[in-house]
Amino acid sequence: MLTGKKILIGISGSIAAYKSILIIRLLIKAGAEVKVVMTPAAKDFVSPLVLSTLSKNDVLCELTNNDSWANHVALGRWADVMLLAPLSCNSLAKMANGICDNLLMAVYLSATCPVIVAPAMDEDMWHHPSTKNNLNRIQSFGNTIIPVESGELASGLFGEGRMAEPEFIISFLEKDFNTPKLLSNKKVLVTAGPTYEAIDPVRYIGNYSSGKMGYAIAESFYNCGADVTLISGPTNLSIHQNIKKINITSSEEMLHQVMLQQQQADIIIMCAAVADYKPSIVASNKIKKNNTNWSLDLEKTTDILFELGKIKATHQTLIGFALETNNELDNAKEKLKNKNLDAIILNKFNQNNPVFGSDENEITIIESSNATHRFGPKTKKALAQDIVQFIISNKLHEEV
Ligand code: CTP
Repeated sequence: MLTGKKILIGISGSIAAYKSILIIRLLIKAGAEVKVVMTPAAKDFVSPLVLSTLSKNDVLCELTNNDSWANHVALGRWADVMLLAPLSCNSLAKMANGICDNLLMAVYLSATCPVIVAPAMDEDMWHHPSTKNNLNRIQSFGNTIIPVESGELASGLFGEGRMAEPEFIISFLEKDFNTPKLLSNKKVLVTAGPTYEAIDPVRYIGNYSSGKMGYAIAESFYNCGADVTLISGPTNLSIHQNIKKINITSSEEMLHQVMLQQQQADIIIMCAAVADYKPSIVASNKIKKNNTNWSLDLEKTTDILFELGKIKATHQTLIGFALETNNELDNAKEKLKNKNLDAIILNKFNQNNPVFGSDENEITIIESSNATHRFGPKTKKALAQDIVQFIISNKLHEEV
């Protein structure tokens, strides 16, 4: 399955660098072509001679060698995939910040192929907030992270931070290469996050939506090869650079952008928590307090999903979300019918499952036939994969 694949291995300075020897052996055995780039620090942990002998290629380390220049651009273009294993804490920080002070980083920054990383570090470093930020950052650039394992660490301590085992890394690569891009001819529109409805220049009506579910859905579609546009209310999330992101603030802006984008879309998922009401008048100056109570006059916003249901084209699949606190299934089924949807995703909302802001959730997908399918509790990323797989396996994305 890896036969003929061109794999560029990047090794950085970590005790786990010894495992790269086995990774290269397994790749060569599987019929892959392997080239190796290492950081100067990695040389302290593993010998370039061993790596070049096993990979059957020269090992590159320096940007320049005497009078010649290592062509980092060509290397990044040669590879089908770049695997950084082990990825040290230091190299991770450089990747997150675009620091280009060695050949490995120059190759990474100019690589046009997918990049997969297998981090390795001590537990305290692994749990440091800066590591978490850097991991989120490189993930938002589109890099894939192979999870670390728990076990004995170089420090002698036990905990999280060990690089995944070579066999696991190889099977991860095989899976990645063999995931079919089933939606490569589809255009997908996803909305996410809250809307803010202005009261005056300093206040708004909003909700607790974090946008996590919608962002995860957009990424899952992208991973299946779809051309994805994400229309997002205010969140602090970032998304893969190849996903077109349109930022909006109010429900009116969301409506405007959705209507501009909807015609081209084959699949539309309205995951955003759009406000149902907005202030009838937006004060141009800050409203001052006085000694009496204050009531705000609200008017209905446009139900974007309802409007989309009215103009749904035959090639389009329209999916909505429902957030209910009581009579959940019946209410969701009514929305499914009224809004002319192909499916609706019901969020389970209770004290144990607050939905908004949380990383986990529990959902029920209801089809237009009223058949129901439960998923979770699990992470929103895992649920996003379930939703996309559900659409594919139930052929919801195919024209009828
Ligand atoms: N929705 C929308 N435009 C709105 C309000 C909601 O497009 N102005 C969409 C949401 O994105 C979601 C679906 O409608 O996909 C259902 O949203 P939800 O808040 O559960 O229900 P509502 O239709 O707003 O009804 P209610 O709040 O009364 O339950």
